[in-house]
Amino acid sequence: MCGIVAAIAERNVSAILIEGLKRLEYRGYDSAGVAICGPDGLLRRSRRIGKVAALEQALSDEPLPGRLGIAHTRWATHGVPSEANAHPHFSGEALAVVHNGIIENHEALRARLQGLGYVFSSQTDTETIVHLLHHTLKRLPELADALKAVVRELHGAYGLAVISAAQPDRILAARSGSPLVIGLGLGENFLASDPLALRQVTDRFVYLEEGDIAEIRRDALRIWDAEGREVQREAVQFHEGAEAAEKGEYRHFMLKEIHEQPKVVQRTLEGRLGSDHVLVQAFGPQAAELFAKVRNVQIVACGTSFHAGMVARYWLEELTGIPCQVEVASEFRYRKVAVQPDSLFVTISQSGETADTLAALRNAKQFGYLASLAICNVGTSSLVRESDLTLLTNAGPEIGVASTKAFTTQLVGLLLLTLALGRVRGTLDAGVEAGLVEALRRLPGHLQDALAMDKTVEQVAALFAEKHHTLFLGRGAQYPVALEGALKLKEISYIHAEAYPAGELKHGPLALVDSDMPVVTVAPNNELLEKLKSNLQEVRARGGQLVVFADREAGMGNGEGTHVVAMPPIHDLLAPILYTLPLQLLSYHVAVLKGTDVDQPRNLAKSVTVE
Ligand code: AGP
Repeated sequence: MCGIVAAIAERNVSAILIEGLKRLEYRGYDSAGVAICGPDGLLRRSRRIGKVAALEQALSDEPLPGRLGIAHTRWATHGVPSEANAHPHFSGEALAVVHNGIIENHEALRARLQGLGYVFSSQTDTETIVHLLHHTLKRLPELADALKAVVRELHGAYGLAVISAAQPDRILAARSGSPLVIGLGLGENFLASDPLALRQVTDRFVYLEEGDIAEIRRDALRIWDAEGREVQREAVQFHEGAEAAEKGEYRHFMLKEIHEQPKVVQRTLEGRLGSDHVLVQAFGPQAAELFAKVRNVQIVACGTSFHAGMVARYWLEELTGIPCQVEVASEFRYRKVAVQPDSLFVTISQSGETADTLAALRNAKQFGYLASLAICNVGTSSLVRESDLTLLTNAGPEIGVASTKAFTTQLVGLLLLTLALGRVRGTLDAGVEAGLVEALRRLPGHLQDALAMDKTVEQVAALFAEKHHTLFLGRGAQYPVALEGALKLKEISYIHAEAYPAGELKHGPLALVDSDMPVVTVAPNNELLEKLKSNLQEVRARGGQLVVFADREAGMGNGEGTHVVAMPPIHDLLAPILYTLPLQLLSYHVAVLKGTDVDQPRNLAKSVTVE
């Protein structure tokens, strides 16, 4: 995922652009660049591989003065990280573009433009945009008109910004699948992928909507919607108390991070979905070629990330038929592993610095895996640097030791992986993929609905405050969700919690059940529901207190010793993501009632960088 910043002002903009890029580094980077229209009316650029600091140094050695500029931090999808592939891309000497996203039909466009005589200097999909725009400007000389015509020819996802030395009084922007926000200043205006990038210059923003094209001048703004109608978009004051590493209105980081999930899940999806399919290039430039060879998947991770891997196994085998093994890294790293041919080695980690997971990856390199893929929240981490392919979850900093938003965004990333593998391997029905893509688009709204149940969950939490033991039950892909629920409860409330597949209850743990042992169950409305109901009868018959998070259409109601929390209906394959939220809230409220240290529970560390 790349980051865009642009500015038009009456002062030099390079420092504003650099500061903005630094604030976007969380989006991952392998190179950065800036193009500025100088006082002499000429466009100049500077590009560097590596961190924004390298670009900053270059600009301090060789300043680029000017009052109009665009800048970019890149996370490679087409073409290796190199100066030539870094943005901004030029067509001729007077037109520059920065782009976030993936242009799926870039090969066809490239061939057409080469036929017209354009010479490409990079391997990127972005360069097709700037040449196509250059070509279109010959018949439509107004930048806005030309850009409107160009975007009609682009398939895929993009957020882009354009400047031209021929029209140096404006920045043009277009959004489809990758967010863009305009920052409003006094006699100066800005553009960025995320308002955080512009917080040093303004707190008033206009969010572009899907399909919007914007023309940003120093003292004027015009926006056209997807149908080409000129529209007014409301300016909003930035209220998010702040920077990601502050609690804001929340009492604890964990609560803040639980409530961020609709927003950050949206970010995980950003730029990775086409109209009805997942964009395979989101996993890196070689992903399509490598995925075509994958016949097995080995997932390795620790703790919460391991639970995400367990859910993915259900998805991968059900949707793609690709066999999948999942193992905790601390075991995998010391085992003599029998590697299946053509296996993709997948690590999952919030921090990307977990010692066991890193060691497992390093060992795996000697075992002959086809390739390694890291699903990770930290773009600068060792895990990301040492893996062949990466999918960043983009959850933003997670401060609470108990992982919450990292887990749900990992799940989203793993579902994207499932759909991408299934499509490339030809084992996933296109209709099923389209249905899931649609369901994923609606997921943030469903998560918001689940968070609205907070007060109900808080009341239920009172049942646990005096207890010492709890059982969590789930079936199918809800079993790992039960495991995650139990992990959350023990981590922050210090209540002993165990999770079982519900069908295992009668094979031993049922002996523990009595009125002092509450049993928590996740019960979406699927084909396992009736079996689950029988398991719950087994608990009730022994006097156990039941707390059931059940689909409101599952026909379950409160009764003697049974507390049902009604959940909104959801696509069955997305239920593990939704049902995780009330379990997080439950642990949180139990911990608050018990007065434990929610954000920094005893004996634990956020990132386990030692064995
Ligand atoms: C979860 O709440 C824990 N903090 C822990 O299990 C964590 O998920 C595990 O240590 C793995 O961390 P990682 O995702 O950063 O690799």
